[in-house]
Amino acid sequence: MASISADGRWFALGFDDGTMPFRAVKGMNDILPEQMARWQRLESAFRETMALYGYGEVRTPVVEETQLFVRSIGESTEVVDKEMYSFARHDTSLTLRPEGTAGAARAFLEHGVYSRAPLTRWYYLGPMFRAERPQRGRYRQFWQAGGEVYGDQGPVADAEMIVMLCDLLQKLGVTDLHIAVNSIGSPQARERYRQLLLDYLRPRAEHLSEHARARLEDNPLRVLDSKDERDRTVVSTSPSILDALDAEDQEHFSEVTRMLDGSGVGYRIEPRLVRGLDYYTRTVFEISTSSAGVGAQNALVGGGRYDTLLAGLGGPQIAAVGFAMGLERLLLAMPEEAPKKSLPCYFVTLGAETWSKALELAQSVRRAGYRAELDARQGASLKSQLRRADALGARYAVVVGPDELQRQVAALKDLAQHTQRELPLDQLVPTLLGELSHPQQQERPH
Ligand code: HAM
Repeated sequence: MASISADGRWFALGFDDGTMPFRAVKGMNDILPEQMARWQRLESAFRETMALYGYGEVRTPVVEETQLFVRSIGESTEVVDKEMYSFARHDTSLTLRPEGTAGAARAFLEHGVYSRAPLTRWYYLGPMFRAERPQRGRYRQFWQAGGEVYGDQGPVADAEMIVMLCDLLQKLGVTDLHIAVNSIGSPQARERYRQLLLDYLRPRAEHLSEHARARLEDNPLRVLDSKDERDRTVVSTSPSILDALDAEDQEHFSEVTRMLDGSGVGYRIEPRLVRGLDYYTRTVFEISTSSAGVGAQNALVGGGRYDTLLAGLGGPQIAAVGFAMGLERLLLAMPEEAPKKSLPCYFVTLGAETWSKALELAQSVRRAGYRAELDARQGASLKSQLRRADALGARYAVVVGPDELQRQVAALKDLAQHTQRELPLDQLVPTLLGELSHPQQQERPH
């Protein structure tokens, strides 16, 4: 229920009647503290892996000039054509980043990193924005963790990245992985293939979806990753891009697959995998999962090589390869874990006169490095405070009531052993710390 106060301001008494005027923007989600343990586990596993492979973290702005994305991702892609959140400010069109590769490449060039570190590995983690139709696993603000390697054109960089990602996904407990790899060659090979594909698709245009027909002349490669059944049927017998590659591209790709074979990664060559962004050259890959719970949006990781992007943005000719993974999708794919409850100490207070002593005691426990929660809710009963301590998995509860204060003591309740004793106030913290420093006592069994 919501009401308007005497001075005209809106205030809430509960939102069950739907009168709360503000909601998160459609397709954009709040991540609440109770969900955070899983997010943090995922983020730390990612950071640890990236550090093992020599990547350093980069943080670039969430907003870039629109032209950066148009030039790198490509004008006729879905992302640039339909999904960007763009707005004008001070005569410049700006866009909320739909992905991280373009901004990282811009920063890499802008700071001249290539002249001091010709081989550079960067990773990033942050929110991205695409105005897509929201559904399970597909959001308008979503989180990506990604990595980019600049200055290595060899096939080892591609294979190493795929192997690293498989290890990371395995570590996170994600199962039923499908690793699809392909090579889309050089821009010249792609131009040749574009023509081949057009010659194949034009006479079959009437069997394509309206959407595919509309973009056929513009960007026929997009038809290859259409999800529409009609398009899938037509492209199932289309010429393969692998046949249009030149000898060097072919050699590069066979080295990548040879190394993947050697590393024991089970992958599939998917000649129709072209990816939805225009900057790719040579190797492209996608990792998806068929694990239940993920739903239709099952692409977890996408990536590939983009050897011409940096030069295209005005920089020197520097080869690059990278990936990004969607954190919400990974969380849907990761197994659930029993939430870890561990709170060393909960301070129960009974009335205003007990607050400052309890605050002082709780501070001493925290300064010694132990988590402590202080319950100083006005009017909360002893029972309700102890119930909360229990729900949080507290090992000890310290009860500071007016009667105890008068006698200069506090009650120390061991919530695991179901025992209670009284201690003089000046001995409470040393006793508690002594017991907490005993390893088995830090966490309460549950
Ligand atoms: P992408 O395939 O567009 O590639 O996105 C990578 C991953 O981000 C997807 O596999 C998916 O897990 C997640 N993702 C994409 N869109 C959404 C969405 N609307 N909601 C939730 N998750 C989403 C890139 O972004 C490239 N920048 C990857 C890359 C880096 N290539 C080279 N370097």
